Amino acid sequence: MCGIIGFSGETDCVPVLLGGLDTLSYRGYDSAGIAVAGVSGVHTVKAKGKLDALKEKLKTHPVSGSTGIGHTRWATHGAPSDENSHPHTSGTLTLVHNGIIENYAAIAEKLRALGYTFVSETDTEAAAHLIDSYYRENGDPAAAIYRAAQEMHGSYALGVLFHDRPNTLYAIRKGSPLIVAQTDSASLIASDIPAILPYTRSYVRLPEGILAVLDGAEISFSDENGSEVALKTETVDWDVEAAQRGGYAHFMLKEIHEEPEVLRATVAPYLKDGLPHFDVPGFDGGALAGVERIHIVACGTAMHAGLLARQWIEAEARVPVTVEIASEFRGREPILGEKDLVLFISQSGETADTLEALRLVKARGVRTAAIVNVVGSTVAREADDVIYTRAGPEIAVASTKAYIVQCATLRLLTICLALARGRMTEEDARRQCRILLEDVPESIAKTIALAAEIETIASRLKTKPHIFYIGRGADSVLGTEASLKLKEITYLHAEAYAAGELKHGTISLVEDGTPVIAILTEESLAEKTVSAIREVKSRGAFVIAAVSEGIAENREIPSDLLLTVPTAGREAWIAALPTMTAMQMIAYCTAAQMGLDVDRPRNLAKSVTVE
Ligand code: G6P
Repeated sequence: MCGIIGFSGETDCVPVLLGGLDTLSYRGYDSAGIAVAGVSGVHTVKAKGKLDALKEKLKTHPVSGSTGIGHTRWATHGAPSDENSHPHTSGTLTLVHNGIIENYAAIAEKLRALGYTFVSETDTEAAAHLIDSYYRENGDPAAAIYRAAQEMHGSYALGVLFHDRPNTLYAIRKGSPLIVAQTDSASLIASDIPAILPYTRSYVRLPEGILAVLDGAEISFSDENGSEVALKTETVDWDVEAAQRGGYAHFMLKEIHEEPEVLRATVAPYLKDGLPHFDVPGFDGGALAGVERIHIVACGTAMHAGLLARQWIEAEARVPVTVEIASEFRGREPILGEKDLVLFISQSGETADTLEALRLVKARGVRTAAIVNVVGSTVAREADDVIYTRAGPEIAVASTKAYIVQCATLRLLTICLALARGRMTEEDARRQCRILLEDVPESIAKTIALAAEIETIASRLKTKPHIFYIGRGADSVLGTEASLKLKEITYLHAEAYAAGELKHGTISLVEDGTPVIAILTEESLAEKTVSAIREVKSRGAFVIAAVSEGIAENREIPSDLLLTVPTAGREAWIAALPTMTAMQMIAYCTAAQMGLDVDRPRNLAKSVTVE
């Protein structure tokens, strides 16, 4: 996620901007830049890569001045490059932006007709030109920003520096975060609290649609009618590291809490008239109608997202799907047909085995597609067709929010495939997309709110050497990812078994008090899973059942602890994501109760770039 810092004061702002960007770097970025209003006008210096690249460039292009803006960019529109880095300039102004302007293409088209030329591939440049066009018309910064804001759909936090007002900073936001802070002699804007902590512990959260005007130590806030508004100042009592975690005890918990937001951020841009639309050649209706088989190739959690997608795609689009561990796929001779779709899934886009598998498929002349979170990563650059998830940077080693958005994207793909093959009506597709965009995030938020019940479950797990997960169909697959989460961060031995397979061997491991976590989201399979619960219970298991709302209403579940997972409908796919959030929370709470280093578990790496 991009980071914004801005400063208006009496001293040179460059050290403040660079320090702020350094502090915001935990948000993840691939390029950085600053713009400073100096005696000879506004000067911008920006560079692809880490902050050191920007600092190097500043040695040969020094800038100084007492008002300026800075930005770390996490690429969404356009690959990481000097041109795509912020700040962006249009005639009268220079600005930085965090968020996504969804209708930027339409805005850009209008502005091109007015004679504007675009030098970057970003959505941000459209915002710069749009505000510039209105400022030229009315000469009023506030009116120009408000008029542009009305036109922009999506999310934005903007810091704007008008060239003819070199001491003043303007800021507005919608969706994306922005805070405003004041010292005795200066004022600041920032994406997050850590960036202001060296200067003050007091700040104002800028409400949506309120314009902040910063001029040295003076700050004013006004609404779109120009009326001044008074805002409440808040005080931080965290240290810098805690502030980066947004006050959460661990990044993993913070990232779970971000799931509703990143799910909406991932799904919304892929909906057009309420239907999924990926806008890449390999995923248009015609191409998908002709796909004969799908091979999903990935590692770890990303591979588990693929396992869930197989359940959906085979049942609803009737396309055969294989899901392969990338390192295994590479080691054998996969049979790939001309009409097959080979889909790679990766959060980082840098996992060595996934990348080598992609190269192997490309070498065979077969078209490749990828679902990737990090824009401009190697997998994203090398795959023929790329769909981005928008989880933002994931810092905790155990993947949570990235899995949720991978699954959401795969759900959209399932709907696309089913539509393309005449297996779903447009009406049903629209209904499903609406549920995915609106109801599922809400159910995830309600699931997170079950923290107290989940803590109780965790307290029963933390002393147990072996834990089993059972379920059928999609629930068996959810169990596989749930057990991985628990293993990764608690070091407890956890295994997932298809509920029907347990009695063919593994049930011999169940003894008095062995925890068995049963997952039930599929109505049609619930009775059979209940039978498996009875089987393990009669051998002494301590059964924790995670059951989606509809199923829990209908039947008696013979469990010792019951967690009812909120869902917005009876279909199993709707329950899958909140259920996984519950499983992530169980793993998290168990590790936290054990006092372990949740975000940095032993022996594991976030991105495995070695084979
Ligand atoms: C590592 C991480 C896992 C992740 C896997 C695949 O093992 O610890 O959390 O699922 O790599 O990573 P990718 O970035 O390709 O999704």
